[in-house]
Amino acid sequence: MGDINQKEMLEEIKDASPLEISRAEQKLLQEDEIDEDKLRDFCSIHLKAVEEEVEEMKDRLEKGHPIHTLISEHEEITEMLDELDDVIDSLKDGELTAKKKDKLNHIAEHLVESENHHEREEEALFPRMEKKGITGPTRIMKMDHEDMWPKKKKLLELSEELEKNEEEILELAEYLSFNLRDHIFKENNILYPSALDELENWDEIREDADEIGYCCFTPGEKRTEKGGS
Ligand SMILES: [Fe+2]
Ligand SMILES: [Fe+2]
Repeated sequence: MGDINQKEMLEEIKDASPLEISRAEQKLLQEDEIDEDKLRDFCSIHLKAVEEEVEEMKDRLEKGHPIHTLISEHEEITEMLDELDDVIDSLKDGELTAKKKDKLNHIAEHLVESENHHEREEEALFPRMEKKGITGPTRIMKMDHEDMWPKKKKLLELSEELEKNEEEILELAEYLSFNLRDHIFKENNILYPSALDELENWDEIREDADEIGYCCFTPGEKRTEKGGS
């Protein structure tokens, strides 16, 4: 394979689906035709293409559509995780300011608050997907929720007395940052597209979601407030 630059690569893959790109990456690796640096470039371009695809999926939906709301909340949660990474770096460097301590507490509160996002997925979306025979992804997502819930609560509890619990906080924060991002990636790229392909009664799903309620950080214009308004 000759020299590849990012522009040429982007041109090459612009019409390919994420699955086709994954297969191409796998093939290149197996055939030993690409060195690691180039593969890393290729992967970051691939990731950008995947992110754009999620953005396009969201743009095709009207505001207030349950999947539109869930993706918007994922964006908010991802921003929180970026802030959490910043706190993790300060903890590691031993340079945690009072402001960052407050920030950690605030992030942990929001992560606990995000539980009703998972509840909407588990109660309004998953049972309907399972009725259509999509049972594997929903089972894995539920396992992720169950795994992360006690860890979020623990992070909030420990963040009240940060000085005594630095090591445990660091471990929990790193675990949650990695695994929650991974969870969001799987939902955005596998679970939600399957739901959009298979499900039809989105008004009913939205009613169920409204009944469960929303997070304090749910973008307001993208949903109907519980009880109207
Ligand atoms: Fe989830
Ligand atoms: Fe989610």
